[in-house]
Amino acid sequence: MRRTLKAAILGATGLVGIEYVRMLSNHPYIKPAYLAGKGSVGKPYGEVVRWQTVGQVPKEIADMEVKPTDPKLMDDVDIIFSPLPQGAAGPVEEQFAKEGFPVISNSPDHRFDPDVPLLIPELNPHTISLIDEQRKRREWKGFIVTTPLCTAQGAAIPLGAIFKDYKMDGAFITTIQSLSGAGYPGIPSLDVVDNILPLGDGYDAKTIKEIFRILSEVKRNVDEPKLEDVSLAATTHRIATIHGHYEVLYVSFKEETAAEKVKETLENFRGEPQDLKLPTAPSKPIIVMNEDTRPQVYFDRWAGDIPGMSVVVGRIKQVNKRMIRLVSLIHNTVRGAAGGGILAAELLVEKGYIEK
Ligand SMILES: NC(=O)c1ccc[n+]([C@@H]2O[C@H](COP(=O)([O-])OP(=O)(O)OC[C@H]3O[C@@H](n4cnc5c(N)ncnc54)[C@H](OP(=O)(O)O)[C@@H]3O)[C@@H](O)[C@H]2O)c1
Repeated sequence: MRRTLKAAILGATGLVGIEYVRMLSNHPYIKPAYLAGKGSVGKPYGEVVRWQTVGQVPKEIADMEVKPTDPKLMDDVDIIFSPLPQGAAGPVEEQFAKEGFPVISNSPDHRFDPDVPLLIPELNPHTISLIDEQRKRREWKGFIVTTPLCTAQGAAIPLGAIFKDYKMDGAFITTIQSLSGAGYPGIPSLDVVDNILPLGDGYDAKTIKEIFRILSEVKRNVDEPKLEDVSLAATTHRIATIHGHYEVLYVSFKEETAAEKVKETLENFRGEPQDLKLPTAPSKPIIVMNEDTRPQVYFDRWAGDIPGMSVVVGRIKQVNKRMIRLVSLIHNTVRGAAGGGILAAELLVEKGYIEK
């Protein structure tokens, strides 16, 4: 029998933290054992948390006291999940890795360290081997693995599946993102109610930068097409939905490509997590909807057999012989953050980087 792994959730009261608590409370072998925060330290979790997700605070968790973010208090913890805010996360995660802990981070601080994996388990699982280099170079017993920006994942998952099999020329992406993507309390209501808030050039650029890294890793050892030949552009926005980033993608190809074939490719896309039957792996990482007016954020963000873990794709149309259009919908705090982190942990356990 497998032993139960104890997890610490740093930032457990945040919007990503609550999804970790919710998902791990039903996990077959990873249990939330330590909840850490900042302003809520010393108080019972059930009293301070704003449970802005489905269900209720699990009974066995409600009375747990929120503790400080200190590795010395977590001797018996096996995995650290770190949805800490940008800036606060970086040094804390390094400290934990140095002390020997496996750290899975949803924060941006280490996403572009060349020896830190930026992991989407179905797309670039081989990048886990960067951990060996990371440990050697930094003389750490532990390590850091990151998950990409939720917005980047909503595009990278379908684009990665396409990029593997077709001669892609480029993709133009327009995002319509939910409020929870900005954490709690997030955007002032007067900026976003009755409005579409452009997120600006900086957000557009970081989205593209992460997708480029992931696509280049998807195509390892394959020269054709070269990534430098691929153009990507993004225009990002936020609107007043609660969860779920909706993205419109125009994808162009270097040769004639039929939308129907691409649709089949997306429907049949599977990765290592599905082969290994990891507990948080959805049987379909991409769900393709055929109805002309789906996916819709309200109805489809929890789709799939592991709710919120599938990217829902639809409106696949031929624009011209070398261009298709599609839309994608990702649950930003589940597949785009906590669920992606748990799936990464499960893969790290299978690959022997976290002791079973
Ligand atoms: N929201 C998303 O859709 C999403 C998706 C992908 C990645 N991410 C990333 O995940 C991280 C968390 O996002 P979020 O939306 O969950 O944010 P959030 O709702 O603002 O939550 C922040 C959490 O961090 C804790 N915290 C703040 N400063 C801290 C510090 N100095 N030391 C220890 N704990 C601290 C807070 O604890 P107290 O309540 O106790 O103060 C709270 O639990 C960010 O880096 C974000 O970029 C978010």
